[in-house]
Amino acid sequence: MTRRTLLFSAAVLGAGTLAACSTAQKPGGPPTGTSRASGSGGRFGVGDYNTQEVADELRYIQKHVRPLAEKDTKRILVTGSTGGLGQLTAARLLARGHRVVAHARNDRRAADVRRDLPGLESVVTGDLANLDETRRLAARVNRLGAFDVIVHNAGEYGVANEEILNVNSLSPYLLTSLVVPPRQSLYLTSDLHLGGDLKLGELRGGGTDVTYDDSKLQVLTLAMAVARRRPGLQVNAVAPGWVPTKMGFANGPYAPDDLRAGYATQLWLAEGTDRASTGSGGFFFHREPEDDVHASVGDPREQDALLDAYARRTGVTLR
Ligand SMILES: NC(=O)c1ccc[n+]([C@@H]2O[C@H](COP(=O)([O-])OP(=O)(O)OC[C@H]3O[C@@H](n4cnc5c(N)ncnc54)[C@H](OP(=O)(O)O)[C@@H]3O)[C@@H](O)[C@H]2O)c1
Repeated sequence: MTRRTLLFSAAVLGAGTLAACSTAQKPGGPPTGTSRASGSGGRFGVGDYNTQEVADELRYIQKHVRPLAEKDTKRILVTGSTGGLGQLTAARLLARGHRVVAHARNDRRAADVRRDLPGLESVVTGDLANLDETRRLAARVNRLGAFDVIVHNAGEYGVANEEILNVNSLSPYLLTSLVVPPRQSLYLTSDLHLGGDLKLGELRGGGTDVTYDDSKLQVLTLAMAVARRRPGLQVNAVAPGWVPTKMGFANGPYAPDDLRAGYATQLWLAEGTDRASTGSGGFFFHREPEDDVHASVGDPREQDALLDAYARRTGVTLR
């Protein structure tokens, strides 16, 4: 884990080369040389919202993955499923025969994911950078009825700290608190959480000085707090590794970890295929328990302090 952290940190510090796949472009921003009318980018948004590697993996899934028996299927919501790991997770779950609801930041990206992933049950929209939109998204999700699994996957990197805070931390908290709890929840975090701080003072005081690493520590601690507060439900967190998505290429076209392994843990947990994937309160990397964890994550006092800070910040208390 430390090796990966060092690699990612080195690339961040050495940032300068921009990826060949337009990674400097703001997700959802104007495309380079493509028409907006028919959606974003080329097939699967290569050069816009996806890398070639993600597009190749989406093709692999559509060609090779076969469905489960219907009795084994579930109803699953994946946030941030218009690109990267979220889209791969949604695509693979769909190919396995699950009923999948995708989430997009706006109507244009909803049109993109409907085109990319035929067979979705539906697509809900809401820009997680705007917390009022996140609240409306929670209401929309509740109107769709109960889910077996929600994957809190959406994330931002390399944008302003306020957006990082809202998308990576406050929105998962609000969705967790306002959506009828599913039987299982998964939260995407990162090994970079190790360099983070819970920033409770910022949260309580209305500040926005929260880095990506801080946000990933917050969401990992949130996951463990929810697992403790909701003992009848299954709640886990996943670090996917540094993989070649648009985010993974944010500082240049290099990512050392395996893309398929980057979403395999989410599928394994969502499907609950063996005993090891049916527990709660776990933090996994490539389907193995990850023990390189920040000290705050497993500390009930820190977890409660975080929940208290979230409640003060948002006016919403987790039940
Ligand atoms: N890739 C890595 O190396 C890596 C490493 C560690 C952890 N992770 C975590 O894994 C998760 C998935 O990352 P990824 O690599 O798949 O990133 P990605 O390719 O950039 O995809 C991010 C997804 O989140 C959505 N999203 C971002 N901001 C949003 C907003 N304001 N409202 C609604 N949706 C929004 C994106 O929508 P648009 O397509 O419209 O932008 C996209 O669907 C994230 O939580 C990330 O922190 C990734």
